[in-house]
Amino acid sequence: MIQEYKFPEGFIWGSATASYQIEGAWQEDGRGECTWDRFCRRPGKVVGGDTGNVACDHYHLYKDDVALMKSMGLKHYRFSIAWPRILPEGEGQINQKGLDFYKNLVDELLNAGIEPLATLFHWDLPQALQDKYQGWKDRRMAQVFADYSDVVSRSLGDRVKKWATINEIMCFTTLAHKLDMHAPGGRESDKITNQTAHHALLGHGMATQVLRRNVQDSFIGLVDNNEAPWPVLNTEPHLRAARKAWKERNSQRLFPMMTGEYDEESYVRHYGEMPETTAEDMKIISTPLDYFGINFYNCPPVQAADNEAGYETVDLPAAYPRTAMGWPITPDALYWNLKYMTEFFPDLPVYITENGMAADDSMSEDGTVKDYDRIEYLRTHLRACHRAIEEGANLKGYYLWSLMDNFEWAFGYSKRFGMIRVDYDTQKRTIKESGKYYSRVMAENRVF
Ligand code: FCB
Repeated sequence: MIQEYKFPEGFIWGSATASYQIEGAWQEDGRGECTWDRFCRRPGKVVGGDTGNVACDHYHLYKDDVALMKSMGLKHYRFSIAWPRILPEGEGQINQKGLDFYKNLVDELLNAGIEPLATLFHWDLPQALQDKYQGWKDRRMAQVFADYSDVVSRSLGDRVKKWATINEIMCFTTLAHKLDMHAPGGRESDKITNQTAHHALLGHGMATQVLRRNVQDSFIGLVDNNEAPWPVLNTEPHLRAARKAWKERNSQRLFPMMTGEYDEESYVRHYGEMPETTAEDMKIISTPLDYFGINFYNCPPVQAADNEAGYETVDLPAAYPRTAMGWPITPDALYWNLKYMTEFFPDLPVYITENGMAADDSMSEDGTVKDYDRIEYLRTHLRACHRAIEEGANLKGYYLWSLMDNFEWAFGYSKRFGMIRVDYDTQKRTIKESGKYYSRVMAENRVF
C-alpha cells in the first residue's frame, strides 16, 4: 500500500452533524420550541422561508443513517443534543422521550462500532429560556446550562465519553444578538453582545465541571471557530504580523479560556467594549479541558501594516477560488492555525471538529454526485493537517462537516455541505463521490 501522506496511528476520522440541522420532528414526543423554530418564521431571515421542521427527518431515520455510516466505514460521529427535547421549558420538567431518543441513537452507534462525540449546545436554545431570561444575555443562563448538562450527562454518561459543551459561541452571540443573522436575532451593542459571549464561556466552564463529575473517563472540550489569520506571504514582516493577529483576534474566547484572563487591549480592538466579569468567573471559564475542537472553513490572510495593530486583513481578489458559500478556499489558514495552536498551547490536544465546503452537488444522470470540488477541498485541507502534524502540531483527529446535506441556518436548504446527498422530497440518501473518497481516506489513514 502507498505510504505517502500517512497519518499517525490512532488518528481519529469522523464526521459531524447538529440536531436542528438534521432531526426534524420539531413537535414530536414532547419537544419544546427552540429559538430557531421561531427565527425561521421571521420573514426574510432564512432563504426560501425554510425551516428545520422536517430537515433530514433523522429523528425517524436514524437507524438507516447509522447503517449508512457503518457502510462507509465511519468510526467516529459528532452530533448534538437538542436541549428542547430534553427540557421543553429549558429547565425543570424532564422529557424522558427526549432522553430516550439519544439513548437509542447512541446504542445504535455503539452497536455499529461508531464512537459518539456529543455536543450539548449547537444553537437550538429552548424558546422558553429566551422568553424568561432573554437567553444568554442573562448571566443566570450559565447555571441553567450547567443544570441541563447535568441532566444529559447523568443519563448518557455511561455510554458517551467524548463531550463538547458548546459549539461556536460567536454564532449565537455576535451573529445573533448584534447582526440579526441567527436566532434569536437582535441589534444589540458590542457591550451586550460581548456580555452574552462571556456568559456562554461561563456556562461552558460550569458544564465542564459537571461533566467531569458525572462521567467516568470523560473527554471534554469546547468547540469553536477560532480566528485563523495567516501570513499572506511567508516572509518577515508578514509572519510576525500574522502571529500577532492570531493572538489578538483570539482574545474573546480561546485565550481567556486557556489563560483565565482577558487581554483588554486586544479585546477592545477587535470586539469593542469589555464584558463585566469577576475573578471567580475567570477561574471557572478556564477549567482545564481535554481538547479544543476547531471548526474551520476559511479565513482571509493578513499582512504587515503601518497602523496601531501592526497588521491588516488582505482583501482577496474577486477571482480568488471560493466555495458555493462564497467563502475563499484557504487551506494555509488551517495549517497556520494548527501551528499557532500548538505553539501557544503545547499541551492542548486539538481536534478538527468541523471542516468541509458547500458545493453545487447536483445529481448526474447516472445517479452519482460528482463533487470533485469537495474532494479537492478535503485533499488540500487534509494535506495542511498532515504538514502541521509532521511539524509537531498536536492534532489528533478530524470530523468532516457534514455527514449529510442539511438545514444550513440562514441559508436554509440552498447550501449543501454533506458527503451524502439528501433528496428533501423523498429523504433518499446518496453517497457522493467525496463520501467514497473519504471512506478510503479513513480506511487507509492517509490523504491521496
Ligand atoms: C458552522 C456550524 C455548522 C455548519 C457549518 C457550515 O459554523 O457549526 O452547524 O452550519 O458552519
